[in-house]
Amino acid sequence: MRRQERLRLLAILRDGLANGGAVHGEGIVESPLSDFTCPDLLAEEQRVFFRETPLFMGLSGDLPENGSYWADSETGLPILMTRDDDGHFRAFANTCRHRGAQVVPDGRGNQPRFSCPFHAWTYSNRGDLIAVTRAERFGDFDKTGRGLIELPCAEKYGMLWVRPTPGDDIDVDAALGGLEDDMAHWELPEHSYGASQIIPANVNWKLAVDTFGENYHFDVLHRETLASDIRGNLQTHDTFGPNYRMVFASIPGFAEASAKEPDIEKWPFRHLTLSVYFIYPNTIFLVDGAAVDVVRIFPDGNSTRKSRTAHSFYVRPQVKAYFEDPEFPERRYEDRFVGFNNVVVNEDYKMAESTQRCAETGFQSHVLFGRNEPALLHYHNAHRRGLGKPLLEAR
Ligand code: FES
Ligand SMILES: [Fe+2]
Repeated sequence: MRRQERLRLLAILRDGLANGGAVHGEGIVESPLSDFTCPDLLAEEQRVFFRETPLFMGLSGDLPENGSYWADSETGLPILMTRDDDGHFRAFANTCRHRGAQVVPDGRGNQPRFSCPFHAWTYSNRGDLIAVTRAERFGDFDKTGRGLIELPCAEKYGMLWVRPTPGDDIDVDAALGGLEDDMAHWELPEHSYGASQIIPANVNWKLAVDTFGENYHFDVLHRETLASDIRGNLQTHDTFGPNYRMVFASIPGFAEASAKEPDIEKWPFRHLTLSVYFIYPNTIFLVDGAAVDVVRIFPDGNSTRKSRTAHSFYVRPQVKAYFEDPEFPERRYEDRFVGFNNVVVNEDYKMAESTQRCAETGFQSHVLFGRNEPALLHYHNAHRRGLGKPLLEAR
């Protein structure tokens, strides 16, 4: 993010704190609740969003060194990601070319080769089939071309992208739609992997995404938690192709900065703000002073009413030193989830569950997005565009 852009955003938040906030939307929008209950829509979403679209999976820190691997099935397909012996990021269908078993159990680690648990065919971290058990008995065949099926993948700005269907290369800049400066600015390659968790929830996957899309609710739903740190009903709002960026103001941060330093150009942007990105089609990306969170939200199988949130966080170098200081063995990366889950799991997703029930009762056909909730409209329309459906309109 360029300096001028940071100053523009800080000024909006500073003025919003003084004057009561900014509103960005053109009007009120009616959004159909059937989006959260329709099995045909979910089948289309599965195909278009989770098979054919490049997905932001995580950061370079997920594969910190040559030989690192990460096997992940959250998209609904088993995917194996590796950093090969030359340091290249690679992705494969994690299915054995012999009889189709999953080769590498979901998880992370470092190993140069992978042996299938069924009959021990062995693959390199470049995906080549390098050994067939008892080959003389199995029968003779050409191993070339029988390696793991390679998936399009790309690593740029410290982000890892994979498309779960073989085919064309991924154009990361095109997927970012103008967020390239932002991503370069956050120095993501310097962040190291902290920890991850999976959050199952009884909500449609898009309702889980909705919970991150406005801060109108902070002073009500989060009055005992987040509201003392982040000013509710105040956000910047910018869109980048199908993606959006909102920046929220840290209340103590802004108070301290304005007391200490009248010149806004000297304010430390990252310490005063929480930046919330939606990265199409399913990821929320959060940046605060200490770390970044990648929150990938998926449908849970074919259920319209269940989702899984795969949440990983990555820390800046100075924060890594804090967690790994040998004098304080009780400091654990996982502890960061306590605060996140108090807000997102115990408050946001609970509320989303009640909206899911509302959608299923049929009592009402639509819900409303206000002028102060513009990101919700943007991302629901990004999905509609992706599926070739008519757009929602403000009135
Ligand atoms: S299925 Fe993998 S070795 Fe047989
Ligand atoms: Fe929330």
